[in-house]
Amino acid sequence: MRRRIKSCCSRLCRLPAGKGAAALALALALLPGCGGGKDDGLRIGVALYTQDDTFISTVAQNLEGIVREAEGETGRQITLFIADGRSSQATQMDQVDRFLSRGCDVLCVNLVDRTAAAVIADKAEAEGVPLIFFNRQPVEEDIRRWDRIYYVGASAQESGALQGELVLDAWQADRETLDRSGDGVLQYVMLEGEPGHQDSLLRTEYSVKALTDAGVEVEKLGNETANWNRAQAAARTAQWLEEFGDGIEVIFSNNDDMALGAIDALAETERSRWPLIVGVDATAPAREAVAAGQLYGTVHNDSRGQAQAMMDLALALWNGEDPAQAVDLEEGHYVWLPYRAVTLANLEEFQEG
Ligand code: GAL
Repeated sequence: MRRRIKSCCSRLCRLPAGKGAAALALALALLPGCGGGKDDGLRIGVALYTQDDTFISTVAQNLEGIVREAEGETGRQITLFIADGRSSQATQMDQVDRFLSRGCDVLCVNLVDRTAAAVIADKAEAEGVPLIFFNRQPVEEDIRRWDRIYYVGASAQESGALQGELVLDAWQADRETLDRSGDGVLQYVMLEGEPGHQDSLLRTEYSVKALTDAGVEVEKLGNETANWNRAQAAARTAQWLEEFGDGIEVIFSNNDDMALGAIDALAETERSRWPLIVGVDATAPAREAVAAGQLYGTVHNDSRGQAQAMMDLALALWNGEDPAQAVDLEEGHYVWLPYRAVTLANLEEFQEG
């Protein structure tokens, strides 16, 4: 990726999780010189769907770090205003309105509800404020509503395929161990993220497709949504363990937090043999679980790369430069970060984020 950080010097304004609209209002009231010129520095409003999500809070932490780094490289002030939507689209809409009315120069929005993108896009366009959606992908029609709307993310299909290939490799390398029933069929359960989320739908589909495309016969014993959440995944897995016992050969999980929930449930049962478990994200606790041999593998979701791309885009837009010179922009609107498969074999390459 091409990087051109041109300006900097930063301040951070983090809105504490759970304090809600009052905290947001207070922080925004402190916004200096609303509607001021470039001398006031770059002000970026960041709306998160919830801060209680491990991967999303990692993206936010990376953004903060990148702003601090930029501080040392350029002479301009950058202020981040981070708002927690607490899984409420109404709350997030209010936060976006405040970011706009108080003069933020660029918005970064991690939608609560992907179908709310059009309304936010129209608000940003009316105020002439560039808009970067991230992680929760709006439909293409909404991205194309205005030429200063962007999406920063990673291909959900790619993450599913890489996860499936991890299992395929294990099947091909040591089929006898994985196929504990010895029936030549891979029995699995699937822990799914939020219904309707592009990552839930496509990871679910493409993980299994990687196996079936390679000629592996599979049997789905169960699939349940656990909303990206560790505790919900532990509860679902406990039910499956009661129902299927050692019949489960693989646990696919649409993300690492849910894979860790599955591990929690297995640890409770004190089984000697565990199914093979795979996740997505390569969060810090998941990397520890890989190191401990509990999580067979995961797929690195590049939180730092996504944060860097947002910052590079924001700076280019603010400086009136061509964003395609700052990031690898596809079709004028999209920045795609690559996924990478992670196992014990290459774990040391993933020590950050
Ligand atoms: C996914 C990630 C999940 C969760 C979700 C939120 O990309 O793998 O862990 O953070 O985004 O939208």
